[in-house]
Amino acid sequence: MRIRVFASAEALARTLALDVVRRLAEKPDAVLGLPTGLTPIPLYRELVRLHHAGKADFSRAATFNLDEFLGLAPDDPRSYRAFMQRHLFDHINISPRRIQFLDGTVGNVSRECQRYERAVERAGGIDLQILGLGLNGHIGFNEPARALIARTHLTRLKPATRRANARFFDNRMSTVPREGLSMGMATILHSRRIVLLATGATKARCVQRVIEGPVTPRLPGSFLQLHRCVEIWLDRPAAAALEG
Ligand code: F6R
Repeated sequence: MRIRVFASAEALARTLALDVVRRLAEKPDAVLGLPTGLTPIPLYRELVRLHHAGKADFSRAATFNLDEFLGLAPDDPRSYRAFMQRHLFDHINISPRRIQFLDGTVGNVSRECQRYERAVERAGGIDLQILGLGLNGHIGFNEPARALIARTHLTRLKPATRRANARFFDNRMSTVPREGLSMGMATILHSRRIVLLATGATKARCVQRVIEGPVTPRLPGSFLQLHRCVEIWLDRPAAAALEG
């Protein structure tokens, strides 16, 4: 695992945005795997800025997001799809047909999960998968468990994850969906390059366990240790518990 520590979350976002833009210049039809959450917001802001400055062209890029709430339509403002529209897609020149998302409203969930797996394959796999890290070590909606499900699947959200998402639901826990759809850890680990982002002191202990602890389904992020091209990008507070 390659670990990079930045002076601030903004410095991290600026460097990663340039990295993404460089990748798109080399490979205009690159396939990007994207997370939602608070952590990637500075990155999306920076990508939008670079696009407006004429320095980032997404016209041939494709994206796959990691997860979506069950039961929320793409145009529901609380959905992850709507989050991505607000923070990134509405402000760049990506073609809507190259934006891939799990649909939380389908009748047949397992067919939807298979569709997503096939779509990733048809796109030729994910070139750069960007990830955030849940406080409990989750990746996408792959929650800590006795065993992980390898491929895209329906998952029950942990109370901690629902609490962390309550901000999208007027802080009313009762309205936060109890289930979601998520890319599986094997799908994620098939990406050619993975960059895990974690910023802020609250993530420090979890980051330390992900990097220095054993590989265990009790901490899905630890599975990233199995990937041969994974980078962990941190700000100083998130790196504070690492040895040396
Ligand atoms: C959401 C996702 C989640 C988040 C994680 C961290 O698409 O993949 O695993 O990355 O919950 O969220 P923040 O960044 O809000 O701390």
